[in-house]
Amino acid sequence: MPATTTSLRVAVLVGSTREGRFGPVVTNWLSRHLEQREDMEADVIDLAETPLPTVLPAFGQEPPAGTTEALALVSPRLAAADAFVFVTPEYNHSYPASLKNAIDWHNEQWHGKPVAFVSYGGLSGGLRAVEHLRVVMAELNATTIRNTVSFHEAWARFDESGAVTDQGADTAAKALLDQLAWWGHALRDAKSLRSYVA
Ligand SMILES: Cc1cc2nc3c(=O)[nH]c(=O)nc-3n(C[C@H](O)[C@H](O)[C@H](O)COP(=O)(O)O)c2cc1C
Repeated sequence: MPATTTSLRVAVLVGSTREGRFGPVVTNWLSRHLEQREDMEADVIDLAETPLPTVLPAFGQEPPAGTTEALALVSPRLAAADAFVFVTPEYNHSYPASLKNAIDWHNEQWHGKPVAFVSYGGLSGGLRAVEHLRVVMAELNATTIRNTVSFHEAWARFDESGAVTDQGADTAAKALLDQLAWWGHALRDAKSLRSYVA
């Protein structure tokens, strides 16, 4: 099977939409890692900038025009992605409703693709959010990456320039993206040979 050689298209989904959120600090740090990689092209999808309605249409019905317009800013970008990174905080021992809503609006866009998690929060570092996401993404025929990067008490882990104060997080990010690259190429190559069966 000939391996595909073009860069992996990695969609970074920013899960928090809260006013005053910390999410952009984590996302910007991750984006700098992605910029350094020649094997990946990142597309940051910020759900605060591209909000999706929370009312799903009836089965078999098209959503109303306004909803279609909102989806048009997100769905094609998810469809075009070869792999995903979810940047998620922890809210009440799980992940934000905004992220679940974006997941639920889509289905085949997730199929046969790998998902990596960068999480943050208070004491938990978002790890419980990540474990919930693994179960959800399995239902959507996605593969979740073992390695994670998590920030406990996240607001204390970055300096004023947005760099991490513990270089271990940079090492973990590289390992995470290396694993994502392996799965992203493996699954893209496999799908170029044989259509994914959901
Ligand atoms: C509604 C809500 C619930 C939260 N629940 C938890 C929690 O269960 N565990 C935890 O470690 N942190 C929790 N936190 C702290 C957040 O993870 C932390 O404030 C994080 O920065 C939130 O992400 P954001 O700033 O991007 O919205 C909660 C915060 C909010 C707003």
